[in-house]
Amino acid sequence: NGLLGEVWDDEMSSSMLGTRMKKVVQNYQAMNKYGVELSGPGGVSGTPKLSGPELLCQLKDKVEVATLTPDLQPFSLLPWATQLPPQQLTSDLGPYKSCAVVSSAGSLRYSGLGKEIDSHEAVLRFNAAPTTGYEKDVGSKTTIRLINSQVMASDDHRFLSSSLYSSGVLVAWDPAPFSADLTKWFNRTDYPIFTQYQRYRRLHPLQPFYILHPRFEWQIWQRIQDNMAEPIQKNPPSSGMLGTVLMMSLCEVVHVYEFLPSRRKTELCHYYQRFYDAACTLGAYHPLLYEKNLVKRMNQGSDRDIYTNGRVTLPGFRKLNC
Ligand code: C5P
Repeated sequence: NGLLGEVWDDEMSSSMLGTRMKKVVQNYQAMNKYGVELSGPGGVSGTPKLSGPELLCQLKDKVEVATLTPDLQPFSLLPWATQLPPQQLTSDLGPYKSCAVVSSAGSLRYSGLGKEIDSHEAVLRFNAAPTTGYEKDVGSKTTIRLINSQVMASDDHRFLSSSLYSSGVLVAWDPAPFSADLTKWFNRTDYPIFTQYQRYRRLHPLQPFYILHPRFEWQIWQRIQDNMAEPIQKNPPSSGMLGTVLMMSLCEVVHVYEFLPSRRKTELCHYYQRFYDAACTLGAYHPLLYEKNLVKRMNQGSDRDIYTNGRVTLPGFRKLNC
């Protein structure tokens, strides 16, 4: 592989980060805002290293892609519960043949991947990531947009009025208590996801809009921790990881773009903003470093695909024989 530059090493650890970032990560590793309770072999060195296919089957078996429905307490007791979709996202959408998950990484800039991304049957994008003006690099199709509660709540994103959010299917999430207890979460969300959801639904009643069940984020977190040799940040996985697993449940094959950085690797945080911070690619709050280790191990594509196109290939869950 001498001609190939460095691609993501699946054993990246916080010890490989620079001093400043190492401190930030260590602080988050020590903090436990969401009441994470460690169980099983997680974080203990000597954890058996599973193969890619074994990891894929674990993910399929142990992670349930669930969304909130009006029958769930405490929502069932509230008048606005009728605004929630009556069915699960997974029963309403897909199955799709081939899907693209478009990370918002700065390395998408000048990638020329737009046509390839748009050739997929379904395309997932994140948060405030635009397509207008960036079509050549990121394409223009948006089937699903996964947004966090911070974007929904912040004034600068103009969530309620910006046309960015008004096409495709919206899926929202918020960092919830580790217990995934809906009442506890409802009483203490990180950002006001439910008030913003109600407002948005009143303005755009016809647009499909789901909210992820908090079990989903923590089940994925557990898969990451159980397969790492060191303690990871006790915070939910990044939108990138959540969206990747979400699409694995809807698609036959999932291509993830610039989650594992290509030869265009850059400290530019997002392709659409002039802001530089290595933490965007390596993680600080989110256990992003470890998410990438796991995705590298599950990748069924080649290192060259990562290096030249920033492309990872993952099988959909339906296709897996576990
Ligand atoms: O920043 P934001 O969460 O909107 O970006 C979407 C996702 O893309 C992130 O959650 C992360 O998984 C991924 N990302 C990345 N490297 C970057 C920027 C984003 O891996 N430089």
